Amino acid sequence: FNPPEIDLKQYIRSIPDYPKPGILFYDISTLLRNADAWQIATARMAHGVAKWQPDLIAGIESRGFVSASPLASAMGCGMIMIRKPGKLPGKTISINYDLEYGQNCIHIQEDAVKPGQKVVIIDDLLATGGTLQASINLLRKVGAEIVGAAALIELKSLKGREKIDVPLHSVITYE
Ligand code: PRP
Ligand code: MG
Repeated sequence: FNPPEIDLKQYIRSIPDYPKPGILFYDISTLLRNADAWQIATARMAHGVAKWQPDLIAGIESRGFVSASPLASAMGCGMIMIRKPGKLPGKTISINYDLEYGQNCIHIQEDAVKPGQKVVIIDDLLATGGTLQASINLLRKVGAEIVGAAALIELKSLKGREKIDVPLHSVITYE
C-alpha cells in the first residue's frame, strides 16, 4: 500500500495553554474525525513498523490505544494493553516513572507475552519519552522482545528519542 502524499499536519489542531499554561497541546481528535486522513495515518505507521515483523502490538493507555488498535488489525497482529493502575485483572506487573512534576504508574498482565514473541510498542505522542521508555522496560519485565516503537507525533525539541533504546518510527514531527 502506497499512501497518498498528503500533509497530515493540516488535520492536527494545536491548542495553546492546555492542559496547563505554557503547554501547546497537539489535538489528534480532528485527525481521527476524518476517515481518509486517519486511514492514511494508520497506513503510514504500518509502513514504518512492518520491517520489524512484530507478533504483537502494545498500546499505552489511553491515546496510545487509539493508534495501536487499527495498526494491530491492519498488520494482522495481536494487541496488548499497557494500562493505568487498577484496570487489569489477574496477576500484573507495574513500573513507576518520573513526570516533569510527580510520578506515574503503568501496569501490564504478567502473561501478556509468550516467550519469543516480538513486540512493537505504540503511543500517539512522543514528548519527553518517559512514558514510552517506561513501557519498554515494563514489557521487558514480562519477557517481551521489543523490536521497535512508533509514535503518531514526535515533538523533536524535547529530545524524547534520545531516551528510547529501540528503533523508533514517527509519522508526524514537530520541531
Ligand atoms: C500523553 C501522551 C503520551 C505521553 C507523552 O499521555 O498520550 O502517552 O503523554 O509524554 P512523555 O513522552 O513526556 O512521557 P497522557 O499521560 O497525557 O494520557 P492519555 O494518553 O491517557 O491522554
Ligand atoms: Mg498517553
